[in-house]
Amino acid sequence: MVLAVMKYLIGNWKANKTEEEAQTWIKQVKRENLRIEEGLKVILCPPFIHLNLLRQEFPGLLLGCQDISPYADGAYTGEITARMVRGLTQYVIVGHSERRRYFHESAVVVAQKVLQALDNGLTPIVSVDRDNWRQQVIALDEEARKNSIFMYEPPEAISQQLGPIGKGTPAPLKEVKRMIASIRDETQAIAVIYGGSVKAANIGRFLDDPGIDGVLPGSASLNAPEWIRMVIAANRIASNNSS
Ligand code: PGA
Repeated sequence: MVLAVMKYLIGNWKANKTEEEAQTWIKQVKRENLRIEEGLKVILCPPFIHLNLLRQEFPGLLLGCQDISPYADGAYTGEITARMVRGLTQYVIVGHSERRRYFHESAVVVAQKVLQALDNGLTPIVSVDRDNWRQQVIALDEEARKNSIFMYEPPEAISQQLGPIGKGTPAPLKEVKRMIASIRDETQAIAVIYGGSVKAANIGRFLDDPGIDGVLPGSASLNAPEWIRMVIAANRIASNNSS
């Protein structure tokens, strides 16, 4: 039996867009009437406040949030729990390098968040980096690893446009392939993807590679024409894979 190849395109808006800006993006993307190939999952991770709007405007679009509380519902002012969003989203990014860096999220906290997500039927997209990926993976139990998507994301490859860490140059393909193969071996995860300065001009390099299950563009997903170009490129690759 030949297993069907599944590719992932996951947009991460990070902390961007007012309601009005989100509406403008939606209007531009809607005009394209994009259809998604069977071998492709397109997931958008906007800030929490835009989830409902996106769900209403694109009923077929898979949605994710960018973080989740390590706790269940209760007296945790300001938190958003997995149970609160489980009707709105199917995925959640956990342990993004920006959260580990700016909000001091430890591997233990990330593991708690992964468990909260899984307990509530959300698929975690767990972000790991080059130097610490083994410890970051080991913090999760075997069951959690198998039921997650992992993202290899070297912080220096994150696009400079939105923050001071990255250089805006994607990691070399050879390194990405090697890291993804190691993470896959260690985790047996649903999928292992790459994130860091992915845009329409380079998406094919990563997505077309049989060793890479998908990509997570951040800043490039904010721009509607750029997002449309990435969806079209990903569709083309998924359609070639299935023919
Ligand atoms: P970027 O972000 O595409 O802006 O580099 C990637 C990420 O969120 O990991």
